[in-house]
Amino acid sequence: MSRPVVYVARKIPENGLRLIGEQAEIRLHSGALPPTRDELLMGVRGCHGILSLLSDRIDAEVMDAAGPDLKAISNFAVGFNNIDVAEAGRRGIAVGNTPEVLTDATADIAVALLLAVARRLPEGWQAVQQLQWKTWEPLGWIGIELAGKTLGIVGLGRIGTAVAQRLHGGWGMKVLYTSRYPRPEFDLQFGAERVELEHLLQNSDFVSLHVPLSAATHHLIGDAELKQMRHTAIIINTARGEILDQVALFDALHSNRLWGAGLDVCDPEPLPANSPLRSLANCLIVPHIGSATITARHAMAERCAHNLIAGIQGKPLPYAVNTAPL
Ligand code: NAP
Ligand code: GLV
Repeated sequence: MSRPVVYVARKIPENGLRLIGEQAEIRLHSGALPPTRDELLMGVRGCHGILSLLSDRIDAEVMDAAGPDLKAISNFAVGFNNIDVAEAGRRGIAVGNTPEVLTDATADIAVALLLAVARRLPEGWQAVQQLQWKTWEPLGWIGIELAGKTLGIVGLGRIGTAVAQRLHGGWGMKVLYTSRYPRPEFDLQFGAERVELEHLLQNSDFVSLHVPLSAATHHLIGDAELKQMRHTAIIINTARGEILDQVALFDALHSNRLWGAGLDVCDPEPLPANSPLRSLANCLIVPHIGSATITARHAMAERCAHNLIAGIQGKPLPYAVNTAPL
């Protein structure tokens, strides 16, 4: 009997490819860049499964191109806004993601960005590189202290909780958060308070975004919201670029209405060469490296492979976004 065929949209850690290869024939897009739309549409033809990255838009057109044998889409990411999950559900195609195993890595990046922006590390390093470090400066590179400040978590899920744990536990921060549902245990454990977004923005020293990207969260933070923040505040985005309106962010940072920003995610990615955000000293941008640790990527590869294998075998996905038709 012929083996099922799966399209793998990029090289992932070897442990994942090995697991998949034991059960299926792999059609690998081995380029360093994502497949073009045409390559993707060609590549998935006749496949039983697709292993996608967050940079691959998997919609009805791709599902049509794959054809009627497509049973599973396994995303090498926890976020799945790149996939039309409702359409997959209608077609009985299971969709999986890689939750939990990247929570610590991504929370660490959020904290790293906050520390770097608050203490102006990129400016300091640039001064060293450009031989502008002349002496110990009593008034140079003055930043903001983290201890005892108020942290606002927008979207208290896995990563938001892990960031709160770090900054409450390590720096004694008071925690405010938004969530669609009350979290009494979390409130008790962290002395935290669930509040409306406006209250959070007005009363936080640092705001960290952790909601998934959806129609409801697109540009959740725009001009009006940034204007509600303190002039000394810092915003951190490790969620998705489209959640934070970058034009409004530029205005707020450029006019010093906001102290700084740390972004692991942008809109679009990669950040275009002419993006005005590149010119700002108070905006630190890193290339979407939240889950980029050996531990996290290895575990993501394993989780993603198990999802894909289960899906093409018609079994429930261990980490499913949807399994049953919607
Ligand atoms: P999660 O556990 O599902 O947390 C997201 C939280 O957002 C949920 O708990 C939900 O809380 C809240 N939420 C959902 N929709 C909302 C809405 N419309 N308004 C307000 N709150 C809403 O997911 P996670 O594992 O923490 O990951 C969060 C996101 O981080 C992912 O979706 C992904 O986009 C991003 N991410 C980025 C990286 C990176 O490399 N930078 C790595 C991993 C993840 P309630 O249901 O209580 O409202
Ligand atoms: C990364 O951004 C993810 O969603 O896993």
